[in-house]
Amino acid sequence: MVNDKVSTDFIKAQYQTGIDSYAAFTKEVGLWESERAVFEQYLNQSDHILDLGCGTGRTTFPLFKMGYTSIIGVDLTPEMIQKANELNAFFETNISFKEGDATQLPFLNHSFDAVIFSFNGLMSIPQYSNRSKALKEIYRVLKNNGTFIFTTHDRAAEEQFFTFWKEEQIRWEKSEQNPQLYEFGDLIVPSKNERSDIFIHIPSQEEVTLQLQENGFEMLETFYRSDRFMESEAVKVKSGECRFWITQKV
Ligand SMILES: C[S@@+](CC[C@H](N)C(=O)[O-])C[C@H]1O[C@@H](n2cnc3c(N)ncnc32)[C@H](O)[C@@H]1O
Repeated sequence: MVNDKVSTDFIKAQYQTGIDSYAAFTKEVGLWESERAVFEQYLNQSDHILDLGCGTGRTTFPLFKMGYTSIIGVDLTPEMIQKANELNAFFETNISFKEGDATQLPFLNHSFDAVIFSFNGLMSIPQYSNRSKALKEIYRVLKNNGTFIFTTHDRAAEEQFFTFWKEEQIRWEKSEQNPQLYEFGDLIVPSKNERSDIFIHIPSQEEVTLQLQENGFEMLETFYRSDRFMESEAVKVKSGECRFWITQKV
């Protein structure tokens, strides 16, 4: 029903329809230049790493091949995990991929040296309160001083959307927004890659900065990808602009 708020089932359905496209991106493109540089700078090869929202393993397989062999992939969408497990044969690896929800992680406290949540996955969790739950879980499973790296879109990133956000703010003030949404910044858009519409929260820098502070993370660095890296057309077309967040559990 169109008035129903976006649920976890909506998110799973959105990603189920994108499996082939994510699998192709995993096999043909893999790590972005930006990710490669950031991971090499901030992760140690001996780190025990959780690749959260791993999808079909786009970041997991290359990291493993680069020597980060103590890595595990976890994703909400069962079909993503199934495909990632199948791709172990393609990449000649034996990485463990498991189904799991970032808001309720199936790991003991202090299990990982680093957690990554690539390609804006944290922002596909509906509701600020649920994203905070995920941050609390990531904090819990990280060791002290552990690293958490993720990306988000950013409402201030692209001038072409400024008018849209101004108009959207007015719709929220008048309670005329799409009733499926929870908060200003939420979007449901027809996807370029998945066959169903996709939900994503587009935050401001201030929102994420505050939310990280609220959940005990210290920010080490944040920057727009395009300010530092020249990505291939394939990467830019599929992913658009994003902001990197490099943080540490304190
Ligand atoms: C944009 S895709 C990125 C997939 C992969 N990391 C990549 O870069 O190709 C976001 C992923 O986050 C997963 N996801 C969404 N909500 C999640 C949650 N609550 N817990 C774990 N994974 C989640 C989705 O199933 C999806 O596979």
